[in-house]
Amino acid sequence: MFTTARSPQTTRVSDLPEDLFEAIATLKRDLNAVVLAHYYQDPDIQDIADYIGDSLGLSRQAADTNADVIVFAGVHFMAETAKILNPDKLVILPDLAAGCSLADSCPPEAFAQFKAAHPDHLVVSYINCTAAIKAMSDIICTSSNAVDIVNQIPKDRPIIFAPDRNLGRYVMEQTGRDLLLWDGSCIVHENFSEKKIVQLRVEHPEAEVIAHPECEPPVLRHADYIGSTTALLKYAKQSAKDSFVVATEPGIIHQMQKAMPQKEFIAAPPTGNCACNECPHMRLNTLEKLYLSMKYRQPEITMPEEVRQAALKPIQRMLEMSR
Ligand code: 13P
Ligand code: SF4
Repeated sequence: MFTTARSPQTTRVSDLPEDLFEAIATLKRDLNAVVLAHYYQDPDIQDIADYIGDSLGLSRQAADTNADVIVFAGVHFMAETAKILNPDKLVILPDLAAGCSLADSCPPEAFAQFKAAHPDHLVVSYINCTAAIKAMSDIICTSSNAVDIVNQIPKDRPIIFAPDRNLGRYVMEQTGRDLLLWDGSCIVHENFSEKKIVQLRVEHPEAEVIAHPECEPPVLRHADYIGSTTALLKYAKQSAKDSFVVATEPGIIHQMQKAMPQKEFIAAPPTGNCACNECPHMRLNTLEKLYLSMKYRQPEITMPEEVRQAALKPIQRMLEMSR
């Protein structure tokens, strides 16, 4: 799906230094590179990152960085957003196959037809989409500013919200607006088991359930708090409770546990007996691949300049509307 030169890490895995942490720190200095990581990355990647955050925080960091090289420990749409904001910088993604099921659920051709059928609608797209979808959008939003952004749009203006139907439904509830939803979803967040969450509530009556708005309505109904990854982390810090069932990708529990070692965090279980609550795309990045991507300065994120320019406008609009 994403085209690039052959990734070096598959052919030179024997080329690894003994101390990867030290080698990455050296490369960071040599390249004047910054490592931006999402909370769903493996703990060791989070530990070497210069900044860890949610999609909005990562976009802001990407917009403000003075580094020459951005190493994006996240998924493709996140690294792509960094490139859209920084056309002159080298943006690398440790594994170029790290996509996103939600972004994939909105193919550009089908979305162009959907948009053309509703020409009076403003298009608000969740940042979890490709550059091609961003280029067709009026405003981008993230899970932390979607409600606020929709609230800033005049009430008489009809809105298409894409691609996540679950975040879209949540925004509809919070704003009282009727949004025209694209029918996309995330394979990770739609897989949490309501039944097992209810069981956990019975076993841990003192625990609060905290959930990401990409979860389906039956799971969100049980949530004491709903928010972006950063918002969930902040909420757990200021809550008087000591125990939490966390309904989002469990990578974030690393930061929760580091910040609050005295509190208990239970990963919300998936429906099957599998690790399907882990994002298979995010987890493609490893510390080894990250080191090799810095050493060989690839895989690099690239895109046609006209797509980049068209995708930049709605991202800038988001940044202006969510200061
Ligand atoms: P956040 O912006 O809340 O970190 O969400 C990103 C994401 O991909 C959730 O699945
Ligand atoms: Fe995409 Fe879901 Fe993975 Fe987030 S958790 S990156 S929405 S597939």
